[in-house]
Amino acid sequence: MDDVQRAYDLAVASRDHAYAPYSEFRVGAAIKVADSDLIFAGCNVENASYGAGVCAERVAVFNMLAAADSPRPEFLVVVTDADPASVPCALCLQVLAEFCPPEFPIHLANLEGIQRTVRFRDLLPEPFQLESHEH
Ligand code: THU
Repeated sequence: MDDVQRAYDLAVASRDHAYAPYSEFRVGAAIKVADSDLIFAGCNVENASYGAGVCAERVAVFNMLAAADSPRPEFLVVVTDADPASVPCALCLQVLAEFCPPEFPIHLANLEGIQRTVRFRDLLPEPFQLESHEH
């Protein structure tokens, strides 16, 4: 089984753990680490205080950062039940921007499988960078 399929399966499995009683929109994500077999998954976790909820993509990124010695992501898979497959939100892209290059592949999937692959830069061409505001 190839790495993308393995990540897709882990994202689907993590989506089953989504805690989304408010939106009922369940999301799973998985990040493959470069030069490693490691894949870190995440699901969305909502909260009665809505703003405290976290997206699946950020949970996957944070899992990677917490556990991987060399957290260089190779690609991301995002799974929902939406058709067309949905893209990561801007907050998650901004978080990803710290750790991935512009060409970073993002596989957009639903329960039928991967529907489309985009590059990070297609979704967020100009992430905020603190350096560009320092003098
Ligand atoms: N959500 C994600 O997990 N990832 C996204 O990229 C977009 C939205 C979650 C947040 C919330 O729990 C639910 O989907 C509805 O917005």
